[in-house]
Amino acid sequence: MRIKIKIAALVVSILVISGCSIDNSQPDEEMENSSMNQHMEEMHDMMEGHMSHDEVVPLNDSTGENELKIPAMLEPDNEEGIVYTVRAQKGKTEIFNGIETNTYGYNGSFLGPMLRFEKGDKVKIRTINELDEETTFHWHGLEVSAEADGGPHDAIQPGEEKVIEFEVTQEASTLWFHPHPHGKTAEQVYNGLAGLIYIEDDNSKSLGLPNDYGKNDIPLIFQDKTFDDKHQLNYKAAMNDDGTIGDTLLINGTLNPKLTVNKEKVRLRLLNGSNARNYTFKLNTGDSFVQIATDGGFLNEPVTLNEITLTPSERAEIVVDFLQLDTESDLALINEDGSILLPFEVSDENGVVSGIPGEMNDFSVTEEEMNLPVTKKVELFGMMDMVERNGKKFDPERIDFTQKQGVTEVWEIYNKPDMMGGMIHPFHIHGAQFKIVSRDGEAPPENERGWKDSISIKPDERVKIAIQFKHKGVYMFHCHILEHEDNGMMGQVKVE
Ligand code: C2O
Ligand code: CU
Ligand code: CU
Repeated sequence: MRIKIKIAALVVSILVISGCSIDNSQPDEEMENSSMNQHMEEMHDMMEGHMSHDEVVPLNDSTGENELKIPAMLEPDNEEGIVYTVRAQKGKTEIFNGIETNTYGYNGSFLGPMLRFEKGDKVKIRTINELDEETTFHWHGLEVSAEADGGPHDAIQPGEEKVIEFEVTQEASTLWFHPHPHGKTAEQVYNGLAGLIYIEDDNSKSLGLPNDYGKNDIPLIFQDKTFDDKHQLNYKAAMNDDGTIGDTLLINGTLNPKLTVNKEKVRLRLLNGSNARNYTFKLNTGDSFVQIATDGGFLNEPVTLNEITLTPSERAEIVVDFLQLDTESDLALINEDGSILLPFEVSDENGVVSGIPGEMNDFSVTEEEMNLPVTKKVELFGMMDMVERNGKKFDPERIDFTQKQGVTEVWEIYNKPDMMGGMIHPFHIHGAQFKIVSRDGEAPPENERGWKDSISIKPDERVKIAIQFKHKGVYMFHCHILEHEDNGMMGQVKVE
């Protein structure tokens, strides 16, 4: 068993890509053998310090001693144009009392501000790299042209800046931004580069949902970290090729957070901003809550749930009704294994009265979309590094797929199990929101019947999605376990 676990430790994950726009070149046997020997040696060196797929360190319980920090809303630079400045910078952050941790942040030392756009806004953002290393500014979930998307082709060197412009054409949603430099995404996100984007539209403003930012409309960025004995984030030491997991949870960068709320409905915008950890969120009382939005927009109707799982980069908006809950008992948001993520302190004050309308959106997967043939296939495969040549690793010079602008295609993503059974891969596509057509041939669960840009795919699961790109250019698609992405579990689609 032990040996098995260690072999699984060497898993490096890849994408196998096939479709009309790919030529299937045969693997070169000889190359495979010689690289196998080389990898056997590397295997030996890599043995220590890696975990198998299912050995996940549990999270420490939050003691609730610190009030949750709420990211500041970024103000435009001036009144006329909608111009924002976003700087990637280094800094020191007091995460632990009286101790400075070296961190990265946007417009601050750790994490970033929240950017709030309205549908129809013409936005200009000055992005500035004040780090000592190259970075990019990627707008996860935003439907923008590839030039503005900030993928690995858009590296900004230290001291340089780039202005991007786009029009917000998509509906109200909770998106986010983070760096995407080639091979360095995981480390830069881990060090603190991540921020939120809210899009509002006429619909979101008329629904009467809780929308008082920081009061009853709360962003929650979940990230697990490992701090060394000097309370530093030492990515190199913590790093795991199969996804870096930590024992310490930060929410919005807050250690041991608690959230004080009034007796009212509170909207929580959950973002799994972790490198690799999955979360299954529940209330400790077992009470239900409702989900109102997926990654890219509102659900048609609220969906009542007792728990919700989010894999890295997925978002969900949920509403917890503190008027209905027994506020005499200790309330907390917990993880599947019972670890306390976010204790709630309910004040005696009654909050505002808000409702959740029965109808929120008009999302649908059309008959036509359901019947489209699969024209792109992606296979996600965690396998040993030594046989990687049977698959394809990310190559910035290679276009894996082409798709026509404005034309809907159905992609099929298959998570091929490996000898250890495999693991969940969160699959993400840049530059577009898509619809889940089916999971293993069945309609997706009710709470996934909305716009998505990231989906969890279980081992041996086959998911069909319908996707259309509004803009042209080259976009990435990849596993959002950031170490998998950095290790090459990524491909490129060219939209023409
Ligand atoms: Cu969150 Cu390539 O993206
Ligand atoms: Cu993205
Ligand atoms: Cu993966």
